[in-house]
Amino acid sequence: MEKTFLMIKPDGVQRNLVGEIVTRFEKKGFQLSAAKLMQISNELAEEHYGEHKDKPFFGELVDFITSGPVFAMVWEGENVIATARQMMGKTNPQEAAPGTIRGDFGLTVGKNVIHGSDSSESAEREINLFFNQNDLLSFTKDDQKWIY
Ligand code: PPS
Repeated sequence: MEKTFLMIKPDGVQRNLVGEIVTRFEKKGFQLSAAKLMQISNELAEEHYGEHKDKPFFGELVDFITSGPVFAMVWEGENVIATARQMMGKTNPQEAAPGTIRGDFGLTVGKNVIHGSDSSESAEREINLFFNQNDLLSFTKDDQKWIY
């Protein structure tokens, strides 16, 4: 099953949006494989955003993502990489459609609440940067055991 890496950025954690965002992906039908609240080091931030190292906003990007805890997650499901990107909305929240996470909660292109892998190659790279293989759980949900 396809997997993607999603990360609630420091603005999303500070604004208490973790539960709201996790709920959206759960209700959509995707399954959580791994999650952790963590403080990103400068080294990890520079590696994660390495493709942007020559962009004028790189310093700002690294400063922001290391400014406070993030909530890193791996989600699993059919076509989850592209669908999660649709649910997140455009990078610039001012262009993101209402109903998307950035359209509903994002403020600026920097403080845009959530990061999501943009391809299967970046998903694999980012999952391996943030998680060990044995952190990832795949399991079947059996509601009948708990709900009458
Ligand atoms: S680009 O140039 O099109 O590749 O960049 P883009 O996809 O728009 O953005 C890549 C990530 O950089 C963040 N970003 C910024 N952060 C801080 N300040 C400024 N000015 C800025 N511009 C873009 C943007 O939120 C993207 O972060 P991720 O985590 O990948 O969504």
